[in-house]
Amino acid sequence: FLPPTAELGGATEARDRKGDAVVAAEWLASHKAGDRDLVEGIHGDPTYLVLDDDKKLGTYALNAICTHLGCIVPWNKAANKYMCPCHGSQYDATGKVVRGPAPLSLALSHVVVDDKDAVKLEPWTETDFRTGLDPWWV
Ligand code: FES
Repeated sequence: FLPPTAELGGATEARDRKGDAVVAAEWLASHKAGDRDLVEGIHGDPTYLVLDDDKKLGTYALNAICTHLGCIVPWNKAANKYMCPCHGSQYDATGKVVRGPAPLSLALSHVVVDDKDAVKLEPWTETDFRTGLDPWWV
């Protein structure tokens, strides 16, 4: 078994809904400041890229799979939270769980833009900055 080429070297190309590699300049042009939108990330998981209020691409991405039973968690802009429609779990804007039944925060990955302007996701293996704990997803 060989991993897909895109995952060699520990980085995974982010892919958009059409399956195309995400190009940073195009992503910025097609989204607004504060947007959070899904790409296909590490292991093909739905993953949020985050634009901050200055429309800069966030340095971390959030795995959108609820840590309760695996529903995809939508971003609720008005509430400034990710709110799971399945059983009501909530996560703050950083993906930290703030209401159960989900037991854990949304998994993190690093966002890197390479020299060809491709957006890549790399495994987050160090301390979870939201909890001060080791990452549960490693
Ligand atoms: Fe999200 Fe149950 S799957 S709250």
